[in-house]
Amino acid sequence: MTEAPDAPAIRIRGLRKHYGDKHAVDGLDLTVEQGAFFGLLGPNGAGKTTTIGTLTGLVRPTAGTVEVFGRDCWRDPAAARRLIGVCPQEPNFDDFLGLERILAYHAGYFGVPYAKALDRARDLLRFFDLHDYRQKRSSTLSGGMKRRLLLARALMHEPRLLVLDEPTAGVDVELRRGLWEHVRRLNEEEGITVLLTTHYLEEAEALCDSVTVIDQGKVVESGSPDDLRAKYGVRRVVVTPEHVPDGVEPAEFGFRVDDRGRCVLESTDPTASMRGLLRCLDDAGVEVLDLEVTQSRLEDVFVELTRRGTLRAPDGVGP
Ligand SMILES: Nc1ncnc2c1ncn2[C@@H]1O[C@H](COP(=O)(O)OP(=O)(O)OP(=O)(O)O)[C@@H](O)[C@H]1O
Ligand SMILES: [Mg+2]
Repeated sequence: MTEAPDAPAIRIRGLRKHYGDKHAVDGLDLTVEQGAFFGLLGPNGAGKTTTIGTLTGLVRPTAGTVEVFGRDCWRDPAAARRLIGVCPQEPNFDDFLGLERILAYHAGYFGVPYAKALDRARDLLRFFDLHDYRQKRSSTLSGGMKRRLLLARALMHEPRLLVLDEPTAGVDVELRRGLWEHVRRLNEEEGITVLLTTHYLEEAEALCDSVTVIDQGKVVESGSPDDLRAKYGVRRVVVTPEHVPDGVEPAEFGFRVDDRGRCVLESTDPTASMRGLLRCLDDAGVEVLDLEVTQSRLEDVFVELTRRGTLRAPDGVGP
């Protein structure tokens, strides 16, 4: 059986998952087109892993529909599951098996014959630089090696959708970049659709062509990283000497003194006129000695969404 050729890679409608009074997912609609590199972002407890669980058969929805490539994940679970490779947030290997068996048995669940699966396992272990450990138990691996093994396992049955739940949490910078490269190549060269959740906004910025921010199980914002930056971006103009005289209040810009004692004028309105600002300062006789316009990052978008009260303030954790 083949899946619907034009169906989105992921189509979620009206998804709810309630645990008693807790609404982990609370009416979520999400569409991810085929071939996309999609980021699902949000603070701790936003509902990202729960949403992923409904795709992979681990979390039964309270209401709503979840489809991959036109296959309903709950009415046609075997067909849907075959299309998805998952890197779960927590490594969940069988500690008693050697690496190549972990991979080969996994492919076996999807009907890949053992000899063929073993060949592919060895190829992937080589690719992820784990071949020397192929007979070792997973419990002997470092955290970063386990992350690579998770990715290898997710790819064993040649999925069309790769779901990565914080694949680089706790991974050092070099390995993180290596994993990005692998995943980017899979997306660009093999056309594998990627759903990524991450707390590293720079990662989402570097990799994703569209992102959705969720909180308390609901969509807060969606768009390309560029769209969100344009919408919530902060322009900064640094002015020296330190103070703008009292009474000078350029429209659409607020100002503060930064930790180096400079006066920083900034606006969260992407349409705010820089020319208007400069004219206003000029009229007030304020000399603009240094001018700096910074391109904001997705991180600024989170800060801005939190400032506006759209996102809950993190309680010491999360973005
Ligand atoms: N099995 C469960 N029983 C009860 N509550 C749960 C269960 N699983 C998740 N939750 C709750 O649902 C909410 C969403 O959790 P989820 O793991 O989906 O968040 P997340 O966005 O993945 O967070 P993180 O960034 O920390 O991984 C949380 O408040 C969590 O405590
Ligand atoms: Mg999670």
